Amino acid sequence: MNTTTFRTAVVRTPSGPDSIEIIDVPVVEPGPGEVRVDIAAAPVHPVDLGVAGGRFHEMGLVHQPHHTGLGWEFAGTVATAGRGVDLAAGTRVAGMVDGFDRDFGSYAEQIVVPVASLAVVPDALDLIVASTVPLNGLAAAQITDLLGDAPEEGNRLLVTGAAGSVGGFVVSLAQDRGWNVTGLARAEDEEFVRSLGADFATHVEPGWDAVADGAVMQEQGLALVRDGGAFVGVQPAAKPASERGIIIDVVVAVPDGAQLGDLLPRAATGELSARVHEVVPLDRVADAHRAVAKGGVRGRYVLKP
Ligand SMILES: NC(=O)c1ccc[n+]([C@@H]2O[C@H](COP(=O)([O-])OP(=O)(O)OC[C@H]3O[C@@H](n4cnc5c(N)ncnc54)[C@H](OP(=O)(O)O)[C@@H]3O)[C@@H](O)[C@H]2O)c1
Repeated sequence: MNTTTFRTAVVRTPSGPDSIEIIDVPVVEPGPGEVRVDIAAAPVHPVDLGVAGGRFHEMGLVHQPHHTGLGWEFAGTVATAGRGVDLAAGTRVAGMVDGFDRDFGSYAEQIVVPVASLAVVPDALDLIVASTVPLNGLAAAQITDLLGDAPEEGNRLLVTGAAGSVGGFVVSLAQDRGWNVTGLARAEDEEFVRSLGADFATHVEPGWDAVADGAVMQEQGLALVRDGGAFVGVQPAAKPASERGIIIDVVVAVPDGAQLGDLLPRAATGELSARVHEVVPLDRVADAHRAVAKGGVRGRYVLKP
């Protein structure tokens, strides 16, 4: 095994799945407060399809001179800990990296990250399943923080895309904050959404106290909020314009090891539903992207480097 380089999936000229390449890049030693993680699992996320398709390059958000990395979340084991880090080699961890403008991401055999962005994975949680929690679990927790505790009057929350990854987590977390949740999803998702303790709908009328927009309905989602209600979107680059006194927020998920450390045990007990559709080798990353692009996938495609 070559120990001076490792494999990672990147795009040089992004133009969809066929433009994804696997290349060798030099191993990096962790600095103070950092950890090098041997990655066991890295999910394919909708945002990765946008990067591979050049959407964020076109928006001027990527400035990489050679290649752009893919993958925002991972689970694996600690390989080496930098100075000041108290994590033994072999410790099972999960985490996320944020931002589009990176030379490589979690679609890789290893990654160096600040220890503050990591959380230890409970023994009862498989690393494959754990890898699906960081990005969307943190996004959902941070959406729920933006919504805050439900007011006593006006606690009806509609979660769009409630059978999706972000939406499903919001459905669970928002009920803990007192929201009376209805999940908007496809007809075939009714059993799943109800299993999370929410009401279920495939079509709704306007008048909701709050909408959390996991399905990226944007202005259509905003139109469902009552005057003076609240809307939380998931597309930072496309925040809907304010109207009718509605408080509009957009989540930008940020790494937070402490918050992740609260979410992973809840995934281990099943309180949070972290779903895996299929595990595929890193070499088949383009196939996984093509499958996700078709839509209708429930649970994550997870890459195994
Ligand atoms: N800003 C941030 O920090 C942040 C963080 C994480 C995620 N995100 C974004 O959040 C979005 C959701 O991510 P995800 O991983 O949860 O995706 P996902 O698992 O694919 O979930 C989206 C869900 O919405 C459903 N949906 C779409 N249109 C619908 C409609 N009209 N009615 C009912 N359901 C509908 C989809 O069903 P079908 O598959 O049947 O269409 C799917 O179940 C993505 O755009 C992602 O990039 C943003």
